[in-house]
Amino acid sequence: MVKPNLKVKIGGLELKNPVTVASGTFGSGEEYRKLVDLNKIGAIVTKSVTLKPREGNPPPRVVETPSGMLNSIGLQNDGIDAFIKDKVPFLNKVKTAVIVSIAAHRVEDYAAIAGKLDKIKRVDAIEINISCPNVEGGLEFAREPGSAAAVVRAVRRASKKPVITKLSPNVKDITEIAMAVEEAGSDAVSLVNTFTGMAIDIDTRRPVLGNVVGGLSGPAIKPIALRMAWETAKKVKIPIIGMGGIMCYEDALEFIIAGASAVQIGTANFVNPRVAVEIIDGIEEYMRKEGIKNIKELTGCLKR
Ligand code: SIN
Repeated sequence: MVKPNLKVKIGGLELKNPVTVASGTFGSGEEYRKLVDLNKIGAIVTKSVTLKPREGNPPPRVVETPSGMLNSIGLQNDGIDAFIKDKVPFLNKVKTAVIVSIAAHRVEDYAAIAGKLDKIKRVDAIEINISCPNVEGGLEFAREPGSAAAVVRAVRRASKKPVITKLSPNVKDITEIAMAVEEAGSDAVSLVNTFTGMAIDIDTRRPVLGNVVGGLSGPAIKPIALRMAWETAKKVKIPIIGMGGIMCYEDALEFIIAGASAVQIGTANFVNPRVAVEIIDGIEEYMRKEGIKNIKELTGCLKR
């Protein structure tokens, strides 16, 4: 059988395969370069960058949970100018798509970051993170269709790059938010970010995380994330990038069959830095075995 075609399109952006790595779990790829062939991954989504540097939340910032982890990093990063100066030179050497995640507290800051990224050729797309549960007001734009749409419109005006909006599961109805950002011009939606959670140390009777609450990710959230991806796929025409607890190629295929055009691998990178490439190989092997020539045949093929 000829090699299966794994190429997918996310708005105007073509990816060599549908497997990408999630923001905040892979840095800008540089730390992983000796562990995994970055050029095989469909896209690197960088850690969210803000307009100004941020120190992040007080430690502890991560705690392992049954079937997952909580993080409360708090968007620590060096700011957009340092990102362009320090990270883009490495990214210039990588032969795969680069999607830069951006976060802000004000609509005009999202636009300002997008405007700076618009001038960087290496940046293939922008992921708008409106869904960080770990900072004051981090979910403000994710919870209401109107405010989510306002961010997308501002970024759209500031940049011609394809725009992906990363949605929060901590909302009444994620499909409403997806439809609003589609209407506002988002080229795709990625879902879901982490679920708000917490852990308590019974010896000290204090919260384990310095920030008290954090975002839950990992296999524990997969069934809920999958259901949200499936529901959203029925409501929007733009591509969906599915994520939430994907640990193996079978998990990735579940999201694709539910309606996702691509997937993001997050928490699994902390367990196995090569997991994204193993998932790509697993999907290809599955397609050969099933006689599927093009990955698009699988997107949304769920039988009822
Ligand atoms: C963080 O930096 O706190 C995580 C980012 C996110 O949840 O969007």
